[in-house]
Amino acid sequence: MPPSLQLDSAELAEKYDSVSDKQYQHGLLLLDDLAVQPGQRVLDIGCGTGRLGEHVASERVGPRGEVVGIDPLPLRIDIARRRASANHHVSVGRAEDLSAFADASFDVVYLNSVYHWLPDKRSVLAGVRRVLKPGGRLGISVASRERPHDVQRVLIDALASHALNSAVVNGSTPHRVSAAELTEQLDAAGLLLERLELRRFADHFPDVESVLDFYFASSFGNFLTDYLPDVRARVLDTLQARLLARRGPQGILLHRNLFFLVASAPQDDR
Ligand SMILES: C[S@@+](CC[C@H](N)C(=O)[O-])C[C@H]1O[C@@H](n2cnc3c(N)ncnc32)[C@H](O)[C@@H]1O
Repeated sequence: MPPSLQLDSAELAEKYDSVSDKQYQHGLLLLDDLAVQPGQRVLDIGCGTGRLGEHVASERVGPRGEVVGIDPLPLRIDIARRRASANHHVSVGRAEDLSAFADASFDVVYLNSVYHWLPDKRSVLAGVRRVLKPGGRLGISVASRERPHDVQRVLIDALASHALNSAVVNGSTPHRVSAAELTEQLDAAGLLLERLELRRFADHFPDVESVLDFYFASSFGNFLTDYLPDVRARVLDTLQARLLARRGPQGILLHRNLFFLVASAPQDDR
């Protein structure tokens, strides 16, 4: 099933704000890759609760620059509004519709842990190219289709033990991408790939509950919603047992694999 934007709750939004250090940290890497400069105008697509945007506004672009964040989940934007400031504005909005923004109006656009939620990547990238200034840069961190996160592997094992077909369940989103797909999508949008790197992150969780909190909040309620409630409860029990079995002296170690991509709009765009 495609991800739903109807499953978020105030509790999940607050939880995400408190457990999203991992996304925040790799967001900082993405900003380094993009070499965001003082005075630039930046669009943060899928800004969530606004933590990264707040950092960009105060530490990267400064008072002469501006950060605009959009996200389709109103409850996350409510939290992001608390972080808004004179040079950091947020509103409800979707990656697929950037019509609120003028052509060639941003130096930088980024999507941090957002692109794998988007079904229609072509329309998103066409919009991004339109709003980027000539030579402006796009940064994306996105889950890899070829190298699933450890939690997905554990899930596939859990499903197999219930004779369930892991080919039809995605855990949360079916829209992860391969390197070849990314290259092709950028090409179709007329964006120039500058850098594409797969990075591996080791996450240590103290207990099973914190693993599940992280994945439910990060997926705005979409984790394991592919099943009917009774099947889901059984799969969840098995998943919990398998996660517990991985617990070692440093807690539960799970890796995530993310592509980091930087692309640019051509200099002679218009
Ligand atoms: C894992 S969170 C990442 C949030 C934030 N970028 C961060 O680094 O913490 C994924 C975000 O993607 C957003 N998202 C999902 N579908 C979207 C869409 N169609 N357009 C824009 N954002 C979307 C969700 O609302 C959610 O806030």
